[in-house]
This record gives sequence, structure tokens and C-alpha cells, in this order.
Amino acid sequence: MERNQRTSRDKVILITGCSSGIGYGVAHGLKARGWRVFATARQTADVARLHAEGLESVGLDVTDSQSIRAAVATVLEQTGGQLDALFNNAGYGQPGAVEDVSRDALRAQFETNLFGALELTNQVIPVMRRQGRGRILYNSSVLGLVAFPYRGAYVASKFAMEGLADTLRLELVATGIHVCLIEPGPILSRFRDNAHAAYQRHIQGANSPHREKYAAMEARLTKEGPAAPFTLPPEAVLKRVIHALESPRPRPRYPVTMPTYLFAILKRLLPASMLDTLLRRAGGEGRR
Ligand SMILES: NC(=O)c1ccc[n+]([C@@H]2O[C@H](COP(=O)([O-])OP(=O)(O)OC[C@H]3O[C@@H](n4cnc5c(N)ncnc54)[C@H](OP(=O)(O)O)[C@@H]3O)[C@@H](O)[C@H]2O)c1
Repeated sequence: MERNQRTSRDKVILITGCSSGIGYGVAHGLKARGWRVFATARQTADVARLHAEGLESVGLDVTDSQSIRAAVATVLEQTGGQLDALFNNAGYGQPGAVEDVSRDALRAQFETNLFGALELTNQVIPVMRRQGRGRILYNSSVLGLVAFPYRGAYVASKFAMEGLADTLRLELVATGIHVCLIEPGPILSRFRDNAHAAYQRHIQGANSPHREKYAAMEARLTKEGPAAPFTLPPEAVLKRVIHALESPRPRPRYPVTMPTYLFAILKRLLPASMLDTLLRRAGGEGRR
């Protein structure tokens, strides 16, 4: 067998943010397919839980350079230097009107959603270059393509992720390393709980001209069950991740859920002012 044609049985992947949601679902799904999965999480209790569930798990906080270096070293030590794929999945949404987002809140959003992924990816690329193969996946979003109101910090981090990944793909051409963007719309996960916590941590809603919208937004973030139409379970993301990892010709982009397909097309077709009207409505002016 050529060195570029391993089966999923002996392939190794590192995934960030596996304590819940998409990372959790993808980690279990890939393990069931025969991948050797290093399901990382930042909390010790989550690492222990993932271990107890039969996954190989390592602590990794993407905002901490030391933690990134240690996790990569541990994985490589355990695999004899092999790492076939990386899924940059860890992230959260910082809600809030742009005029209410502080520099600190935006910095925190980028530290987690982008800078961590950049640093981790740059640790992994030399390993993949030596192997002559590799897959680097980024968990972007429909909000990496279009903006919704009251999500400016998150939208900015995912637009930046799209730019970074697109550039990296151009630079890694002919290295055997493929770079793919996964672009989910609404997926059932702990995303809204964690977004609500970020809202409470960073946004002074009571003093804002947007306070009425924030009340509606908090109701959405704390609602049980799906809060948006076309919400899918994490398995929908898993399907696209499997294609990105295992297809001989992975695609640069993998839209997941109807809203992503729709907005990707509308962005190309509609004039900006019409798209704005639609995005304001789809974003529920903060209510959705
Ligand atoms: N759910 C959606 O509708 C949706 C749509 C499009 C894109 N996405 C993207 O999908 C990815 C996963 O989100 P999810 O929907 O699965 O939400 P989730 O259930 O909240 O999972 C987010 C994961 O990221 C981890 N994380 C947060 N900060 C971290 C850090 N500093 N270091 C390491 N891990 C960290 C969380 O760990 P803790 O438990 O320790 O916080 C958790 O494991 C995110 O990048 C998100 O932007 C989600």
C-alpha cells in the first residue's frame, strides 16, 4: 500500500473541543469507523469522562500555547509520530451588538475561535509535511459566509477563519495536505448555553440601546430544544467530516444544513441591500 493510501483503520485524528456537541459526536462517530481518535477537551473532568467512554483523550485548551504544545507532543508520542488529520472544532459564540462588544470580549472570541486553531495547525503541519499527507479541517459556520445581527464578534472570527483556511489551502497545494472548511448551520449542541454564558460574562445589556432585543435574545439562548428552523443533530456534521477526511478528492467547503446552502447561493445572487434585508429577518433582529 502506498503511504498516501492508508485505510481509516490505522489513521489518527486530533479533535479539539470534544466535551460536547459536534466535537463529541464526531469523535465517537470516527472511532466507530475505525479511526484512532484523540478527543481533546480543556477540563480535566471531561478528559476523564471521554476516557471512560473508550476514547483516547488528552487535555487541550486552545487559548493556552503550553497546553497546545503538550497535547501535540503527547499524541505524537503515543502514535510514534503519526498524525493524519486535525479537526479544529473548539469554539463558542459571543453574542452582543457590535457597539456593545469590548476589545477584551473580541480578543477572547478570537483567542478561542481563531488564534488557537492557527497555533495548533502550525504545530501539526510539519508532521504532515514529513508524512507527505494530511487533512486539516476547520469548523466554520454559515456565519463564516454571511452576517446575522447581534453576532458580530462570532461572525468576525468565522469570516477570519474562512480567510485563513482558504489561504492555507493555496499554500499547501501539492504537499498532500488538504484543507477543508466545514460550514454548519444550526446544530443541536451546548452552543446556545455557552453563548449565553459569554453574553453574561461580557455584555452590559441593561445599559444598552439594544436592551429590548437582548431580552428576546436571552429567551432564545435559554430555550429548551431547537431554537432555529432546520436544526440538525451533530451526525449531520459527521457525514461531511467523513467525506473531508476519507475522500481522495476532499472539497474546500462542506455546507451542512439548509441555511448554509441557501445563504451561500443568495450571497452570490442578491445585491447587498436585498441580502441585508433577508439577513436581518433571518436573524430575527436578535430574537433568533
Ligand atoms: N451548534 C451550531 O449551531 C454551530 C453552527 C455552526 C458552527 N458551529 C461551530 O461548531 C463548533 C463546536 O460547537 P458546538 O456547536 O459543538 O458547541 P458546544 O457544544 O458548545 O461545543 C463547543 C466545544 O468547544 C470547547 N471549547 C470552548 N473553548 C475552548 C477552549 N478554550 N479550549 C478548548 N476547547 C474549548 C467546549 O469546551 P467546554 O465544554 O470546556 O466549554 C466544547 O467542547 C464551534 O466552533 C462552533 O462555532 C456550531
